[in-house]
Amino acid sequence: MKFFIDTANLEQIREAAGFGILDGVTTNPSLMAKEGIIEQSTRIKEICAITPTPVSAEVLATDTEPMIEEGIKLSGLAPNVVVKIPMTINGLLATKVLSGRGIKVNVTLIFSAVQALLAAKAGAAYVSPFVGRLDDTGVNGLQVVEEILTIMDNYDFETEVIVASVRHTQHVAGAAIIGADICTIPFAVIKQLSGHPLTDKGLAAFLADHAKIAAH
Ligand code: E4P
Repeated sequence: MKFFIDTANLEQIREAAGFGILDGVTTNPSLMAKEGIIEQSTRIKEICAITPTPVSAEVLATDTEPMIEEGIKLSGLAPNVVVKIPMTINGLLATKVLSGRGIKVNVTLIFSAVQALLAAKAGAAYVSPFVGRLDDTGVNGLQVVEEILTIMDNYDFETEVIVASVRHTQHVAGAAIIGADICTIPFAVIKQLSGHPLTDKGLAAFLADHAKIAAH
């Protein structure tokens, strides 16, 4: 499974890239706003200078033609930009046009298997089901992802499934168990992934045992 980081914060992206396991970056207007960014072009270029991996940049337009124009501009910022388009009818039309021009599209705000099917048919390179927000409504988010994976497999779609809206390490484990292509993970959760209290306890005991014998 590929690991993307879900942030627009440069320090977090640099640090995660330094862990040696970063396969991509996803941003959205809320993540940009969190960084105080109104016009995202400069930030997207800065992120792409840190990593050559796919970097999703979301359009703000909601009508088809403006979405296409914005998508073309975003994709021109760097070769690794992926244009993020919301899952609407206008978004599907824009996805069809952009993907037809060879631009990679990540269709976002996916909450059902049929939405993912439509996005894949429109030519999306990626679909992003939001597991955390689904869990909040009482629907098992990872179960929806499993349905999407089955559909992609049934029809040999090349569309990759990005598990998004990740809230905790169990979402990451669950995504890997069901065979999701990608998980986009907030920085705080990435840092939690490597840790376990028994690892810390075990290491402390190993070092203490070594210190005891070395002192003799
Ligand atoms: C990423 O592509 C999504 O925009 C992001 O994971 C949404 O996460 P949230 O539900 O925590 O806002």
